[in-house]
Amino acid sequence: MAGTKLRKFLFKVSMQNNIEPVIEVRGLSKRVNDATGELTILDQIDLSIAKGSSVAIVGASGSGKSTLLGLLAGLDSASGGSVRLLGKELSTLNEDERAALRSGAVGFVFQSFQLMPHLTALENVMLPLELRAETPHSEIAARARALLDQVGLSQRTGHYPKLLSGGEQQRVALARAFVTHPAVLFADEPTGSLDAATGYAIIDLMFEMNRRNGATLVLVTHDQELAERCDATVTIEAGRLVNGLGV
Ligand SMILES: Nc1ncnc2c1ncn2[C@@H]1O[C@H](COP(=O)(O)OP(=O)(O)OP(=O)(O)O)[C@@H](O)[C@H]1O
Ligand SMILES: [Mg+2]
Repeated sequence: MAGTKLRKFLFKVSMQNNIEPVIEVRGLSKRVNDATGELTILDQIDLSIAKGSSVAIVGASGSGKSTLLGLLAGLDSASGGSVRLLGKELSTLNEDERAALRSGAVGFVFQSFQLMPHLTALENVMLPLELRAETPHSEIAARARALLDQVGLSQRTGHYPKLLSGGEQQRVALARAFVTHPAVLFADEPTGSLDAATGYAIIDLMFEMNRRNGATLVLVTHDQELAERCDATVTIEAGRLVNGLGV
């Protein structure tokens, strides 16, 4: 597809000229201690992600993809190295400052959805904007309804998570991630439990946000089709980057 080729070419040019990286990673490592001693989950990762680009992180189960995503998003702290997200060195921020950065500019879709069980689908989607307390309640509700409509859940707005299927919960999680129009969207297997048709609709929605708002997408995926639509793919093998956007 010519459009995809052109985008990938432009992405390479922007990387070569190092245009406004939104995420910069240097020598990033994550080690944990378990019963058998010290375990290295991520080892010396270097990565640079340009503003407005889309990057797929791929690799076998257990290779460290979710761990990397959590570190990039400031949800977890590194054992070594550095992550700059939107110009801020994450290791220099305290937990409150990291939370403020996340709630302002970053959206997440977790591998395990993490919806609030005592809130309805609509309330879950409204939550990030309600927490910011900047937008009138009625406008928040309207935005959340519009997003639930876009992910095909306009008939399920009053349902609690436990009454929704796995794929439906995932779509609520996506709508919740989009509601703040984040500058960076991190998504861990966003199409993992969706059928093909719903998966395509979700992928379209993510790329539409990427184009319209200049949002940067960082996606962990096993879905070849989704990876190919991204500007670049990085592959992790046993905690090391084996190709991709090293610097
Ligand atoms: N807190 C922890 N303590 C011990 N081991 C951990 C911890 N967190 C992750 N691991 C291990 O690190 C490795 C990488 O985990 P991670 O969840 O990042 O993999 P993944 O690539 O996302 O896999 P999947 O595709 O199955 O989701 C796994 O072997 C996992 O068991
Ligand atoms: Mg994972």
